[in-house]
Amino acid sequence: MSEIVAFGASSSSQSINKQLATWASTQVIEAEVKFLDLNDFEMSIYSLDKEQATGIPEKAKQFKAAIQEADGILISFAEHNGSYSSAFKNIFDWMSRLEKPIWSDKPIFLLSSSPGPRGGKNVLATAIGSFPHQGGQVVASFSLPSFNENFNSEEGIVSEVLKKQFDEQLLLFREALG
Ligand SMILES: Cc1cc2nc3c(=O)[nH]c(=O)nc-3n(C[C@H](O)[C@H](O)[C@H](O)COP(=O)(O)O)c2cc1C
Repeated sequence: MSEIVAFGASSSSQSINKQLATWASTQVIEAEVKFLDLNDFEMSIYSLDKEQATGIPEKAKQFKAAIQEADGILISFAEHNGSYSSAFKNIFDWMSRLEKPIWSDKPIFLLSSSPGPRGGKNVLATAIGSFPHQGGQVVASFSLPSFNENFNSEEGIVSEVLKKQFDEQLLLFREALG
């Protein structure tokens, strides 16, 4: 059985992206899911000075180890001012100082959602554009707009049109997992 690592790229306890990532990962029926909470990887804000003074924190190494041990990665991004949440960006920055490739050449399913109609498309586009240069194979992506109208925790994605789009991307990810 393959193992995937999944997380919502948000530190909010009520994160809609944690909800989406949790549900989406249950749809990868053949995989065992290891769900990460970014709050377990909180570190001081990355700076070169801190890195030179005290090295890379253990939590960054633990995060990278979880990625390395998995067969695939599923992330749902919160969009903050058009970009990554600080919680995700800080872990990403610290982890990027460890050995390359950053995303360990794993197949990745990237998602995003927001309460608004754009569904976090800006942050998703950023990740789709940059992950392939950082050792991540982005094999599938999906943005869920207007989260509160289109999702509920029992049924998942409730819009038929959006569910169909999601299922197409899900299939690509499952195929890549092999
Ligand atoms: C600091 C901050 C900046 C935000 N910027 C954006 C934004 O640029 N685009 C957007 O669609 N939503 C933005 N939002 C609203 C988020 O989409 C919303 O809070 C969402 O619930 C975040 O995802 P999460 O619940 O998974 O943390 C912002 C929210 C905060 C707190």
